[in-house]
Amino acid sequence: TARRRKIVAGNWKMNKTVPEALALVRELRGQVASQGDTVEVVVAPPFVALQPLHVALEGAPLALAGQNCHWESSGAFTGEISAPMLAELGCAYVIVGHSERRQYFGDTDEQVNKRAKAVRAAGMTPIICVGETLAERDANQTLAVVERQVRGALEGFEAKDVASFVLAYEPVWAIGTGRNATAAQAQEVHAAIRGLVERLYDGETAGRVRIQYGGSVKPDNAAELLGQPDVDGALVGGASLKAGDFAAIVQAAT
Ligand code: G3P
Repeated sequence: TARRRKIVAGNWKMNKTVPEALALVRELRGQVASQGDTVEVVVAPPFVALQPLHVALEGAPLALAGQNCHWESSGAFTGEISAPMLAELGCAYVIVGHSERRQYFGDTDEQVNKRAKAVRAAGMTPIICVGETLAERDANQTLAVVERQVRGALEGFEAKDVASFVLAYEPVWAIGTGRNATAAQAQEVHAAIRGLVERLYDGETAGRVRIQYGGSVKPDNAAELLGQPDVDGALVGGASLKAGDFAAIVQAAT
């Protein structure tokens, strides 16, 4: 079985001004770094902080991610940011399909797929988020919903693409609620996602694709979640806004 490098990413969402963002990475640089084959560390600040952070992080073992992107590379799309623009600012990753995008901005599976294709075409790696709502979990729809979202996002991609992708399982009921999925709940869904990738592609691709867990990851629950065999990292919201908390979660991944 493949040994997957863990990936811990901080999704800052709509938080931190540019001066605050610079202050946070200054702190992070001292406390957090990608560590060889063991763990890769990523931060996803608001778009306006990307360029200053790209400069500030020059040479640092901390990768940058966009939080979303449009699927067209340029044109009359007022208010949007394209994948090539993010690549130029040093982004290695772009989050697509976050549940907040799906809930508040109407992102569909098809749009998530188009965004992921744009990210790939611009030479970056998508972090593709999937996850069920509380109503869907209560209705025993978790695996069906996640399967639909994963199939939709990966439509038209080849095995060699998918092997390099990052998927993030983020149960909507666990996001920003302080209520994380239990390690067993996370592992169940992660194993199902990996099984689906094996059915859609092959065992090697399934063994290589990395699947992060997101939803109220904190220093005190990170080790247990990250200790699950199919949990390859964390996508961290609230706790990524404090250097000490984020550093402790990265530490738990090593
Ligand atoms: O993308 C990360 C996320 O949605 C989880 O947020 O605040 O529950 O860690 P939070």
